[in-house]
Amino acid sequence: MIDSIQHRRSVREFLDQPVEDAKLNEILEAARLAPSGNNKQPWHFIVIKDQGMKNAVATATNNQLWIASAPVVIVAVADMLARSEDFAGMVVDEETSIFDLKRIVRDTAIAVTHILLEVDHQGLGACWCGAFTQRGIRPVLGIPEEKFVVAVIPIGYPAKQPQGKTRKSLEEIVRYERW
Ligand SMILES: Cc1cc2nc3c(=O)[nH]c(=O)nc-3n(C[C@H](O)[C@H](O)[C@H](O)COP(=O)(O)O)c2cc1C
Repeated sequence: MIDSIQHRRSVREFLDQPVEDAKLNEILEAARLAPSGNNKQPWHFIVIKDQGMKNAVATATNNQLWIASAPVVIVAVADMLARSEDFAGMVVDEETSIFDLKRIVRDTAIAVTHILLEVDHQGLGACWCGAFTQRGIRPVLGIPEEKFVVAVIPIGYPAKQPQGKTRKSLEEIVRYERW
């Protein structure tokens, strides 16, 4: 496992080569099996291969047009309805201060991490893209307003393996027994 974790990089350049459906299914399976609070599994995944849709998503993701060069883009969506049917029709966005929104975003982020690691394990590359607003991206994909887009994830065969980014040392981030 640590090999995939160490090898994974944010990949932003892709070969003009499709992703096999069998690999895509393994990637989605990795997301499906992620842990979540109370096993609520508050996630949905939109798989996009259509060039026009990829272009629109890339434009909505802060005009990062390179995203549309990936053969497939997965959009991870967290669903308030997984917590309570009472949220039906509610509008949530970046300003919403409700604990259940934090819970569904937390859980969906775990599933996105599973996706990134399985992508690497399959010899593919991906990048978690988060530079969008709910009001900007939801209409592009017809996503109802009680759902919160967590990540746009372009996936494909890497054109190159990017250099590793630095990380803080364990000494900087780990404490023992108490703060
Ligand atoms: C929540 C989140 C949002 C991100 N948004 C973007 C983005 O919009 N565009 C982009 O190119 N990279 C984005 N990244 C990728 C980070 O820049 C990258 O993970 C970080 O620099 C570490 O590099 P590495 O993934 O290669 O280890 C995002 C990563 C995360 C976790």
